[in-house]
Amino acid sequence: MTRVLLTGGAGYIGSHTAVALCQSGFEPVLLDDFSNSVPAVLDRLARITGRAFPCEHGDAADVSFVRQVIERHAIEAVVHFAGFKAVGESVAEPLKYFRNNVGSALGVLDAMRETSCRALVFSSTATVYGDPDRVPVNESAPRRYENPYAQTKGMVEDILAATARSDPSWCFGVLRYFNPVGAHPSGLIGEDPHGTPNNLMPYISQVAIGRRPALQIFGGDYATPDGTGVRDYIHVSDLAAGHVAALRHLLERREGLIVNLGSGQGHSVLEVLRAYERACGHAIAHQLAPRRPGDVACYYADPGLAHSLLGWRAQRTLDEMCADAWRWQSGNPNGYHGG
Ligand code: WQD
Repeated sequence: MTRVLLTGGAGYIGSHTAVALCQSGFEPVLLDDFSNSVPAVLDRLARITGRAFPCEHGDAADVSFVRQVIERHAIEAVVHFAGFKAVGESVAEPLKYFRNNVGSALGVLDAMRETSCRALVFSSTATVYGDPDRVPVNESAPRRYENPYAQTKGMVEDILAATARSDPSWCFGVLRYFNPVGAHPSGLIGEDPHGTPNNLMPYISQVAIGRRPALQIFGGDYATPDGTGVRDYIHVSDLAAGHVAALRHLLERREGLIVNLGSGQGHSVLEVLRAYERACGHAIAHQLAPRRPGDVACYYADPGLAHSLLGWRAQRTLDEMCADAWRWQSGNPNGYHGG
């Protein structure tokens, strides 16, 4: 079985990808510093898959630690999730983001260089496109960094491109995520943000479960059908399947790729709210608030390349995303901290 190292593997996307890889015949090995995740995830993963994934506790930026992990577990490919992802925090603390997000990628690559492992899938983001000139957004759209978070992801993409040009034995899969939401249908793993959620779906989930009084809708006067922001929401299990497809492509074709992972469909804040009310069976308190600085009116993916190259497309609907998010939240009102 091909052993795959998931840095940040105990996190939201990482844990869902571990399940998908295991169920696709790969053998996941996790590496996490638990700065933005908790060990309790490991037990949940074992309950879902019937397998106890090895998990190495440490820093992805630590070259010798990562090299030892690669050698100890005979790793053949890496999926690099480890990184911070709060846009607002990156504006307030850019050095923390450059150090961690670029540093951890450099640590993993330097460790890999000392081994025979040359395949890596990178967790990138559609925020590298900034405010796109047109929608849907395809991979040829220019990258415009509107915050340090997006800049760190773009910098790592450039590091991967230069490394691949320097030595064709490397092959990289860059996956630009749109808006990952939802949870594994078992309700055992899901999104568990620390503190006040920045993102829409976890915030709505916490209002629905009674942890927060009401959703603030950031802006109702955008040039969109109902005036609220439009985004491309993708079920985290569809996103995980995209990683499996990308990894297979790298290992079988030994050629790099850069693809958008999105549904190709835009939904407004109000549409998400209504879908979540259908999922949880009750009204969700909300009120209109001023626009959030840096937000764009509308963006959603052109997912055509991921389909033509990988045979992948998002399957799950917005209602399924909300139903799975609600099952996770209602079963775990305090996330992983509720025991
Ligand atoms: C979605 C929509 C908000 C919260 C983010 C970040 C980054 C990236 C993807 C990884 C927007 C509105 C939100 C709230 C609201 N992740 N909203 N009230 O801003 O598209 O992108 O997710 O790369 O984290 O770039 O996602 O979920 O923050 O916002 O009205 O309390 O919901 O204005 O229209 P965003 P989001």
